Amino acid sequence: MRIAFVGKGGSGKTTLAARFARWCGDQGMPTVAMDADINQHLLHAAGIPETRQRQTIPLADHAHAIKTFLRGTNPRIAAVDDMIKTTPPGTGSQLLTFQTQNPLWDAAILENGVHWALAGDLHPDDVGVKCYHAVNGIVELLLGHFHDTRNEAVIVDMTAGADAFASGLFGRFDVTAVVVEPTEASLSVLRQYVAYAHDYPVTLVAIGNKVSDADDLTFLQAQTTAQGIPLLTHVPFARSIKSASQGHVLPKESWEPELCQALETMRQHLLTIPRNPVTLYSLACELHRKNAARWANASTGTTLESQIDPHFDPVAAFGA
Ligand SMILES: Nc1ncnc2c1ncn2[C@@H]1O[C@H](COP(=O)(O)OP(=O)(O)OP(=O)(O)O)[C@@H](O)[C@H]1O
Ligand SMILES: [Mg+2]
Repeated sequence: MRIAFVGKGGSGKTTLAARFARWCGDQGMPTVAMDADINQHLLHAAGIPETRQRQTIPLADHAHAIKTFLRGTNPRIAAVDDMIKTTPPGTGSQLLTFQTQNPLWDAAILENGVHWALAGDLHPDDVGVKCYHAVNGIVELLLGHFHDTRNEAVIVDMTAGADAFASGLFGRFDVTAVVVEPTEASLSVLRQYVAYAHDYPVTLVAIGNKVSDADDLTFLQAQTTAQGIPLLTHVPFARSIKSASQGHVLPKESWEPELCQALETMRQHLLTIPRNPVTLYSLACELHRKNAARWANASTGTTLESQIDPHFDPVAAFGA
């Protein structure tokens, strides 16, 4: 189950992605949490010590190994460098699973039952000339080749606002959780997400965060309902989260019961949302054609539309 955490800057995407990953990992679910935000903060929010964090390999720096693995023996990809973020899997491609060793697990660290991975940030050389999508595009590519099941959690902490729609990343998820604080500004990002997602197979849910009282909750319920998006659950303003942000990471046993209840509600509901990998595969092909025509054919000097394999069976590869 692929789950994106999006929302306004500062709403709590990273915090909730990290806590939710911990929660799933503790339940014994195979879980990976990936940081796809230029502000690489997920591992820190998870309370992972800096020395341990440094043992991850940023996925963008590991791109060649990842692409070589994913390409496998796919004859439609002439060279590893011809793989772009939207290149879809085809006959001969190798898919990622939790059960098999692959370059994602090499780059990630395993802590508290969760594989933690990060896309990487902009290299100093690239400042002013490169867009961050060139970095987190590796996450887009990985997700396009991930064969996960309903009982496995693939969690991605995303960039703020509706930025995911500027790349194809928005179309890689079974469910997109929009983290909303009880404020107009936060809800305006949900409104924007609803508008952009309208013509695409994007399943949205809202998760309230930093909810202080019944009035906050009433406000959130009314506002999300008005936008036609279910408020799945809400997380209170939590001392354990505040303390962690001040450098005092409390053990999971000290997490507030309301926080734990919200995480369990998220686990039960997010993991039972209907999946449609075939529709997502079709969208991926559509976006690949669009990228090929707009810029990628010119930049690689090839006709990348031919990477789409008409014989590839997404049902066999990803399940129904
Ligand atoms: N439920 C909560 N209770 C208390 N503090 C919280 C809660 N959720 C988040 N915070 C605090 O709010 C701040 C912003 O949270 P976080 O970094 O997770 O937001 P974000 O949406 O990922 O931000 P960015 O857009 O910068 O990536 C942090 O200091 C975090 O500790
Ligand atoms: Mg964040």
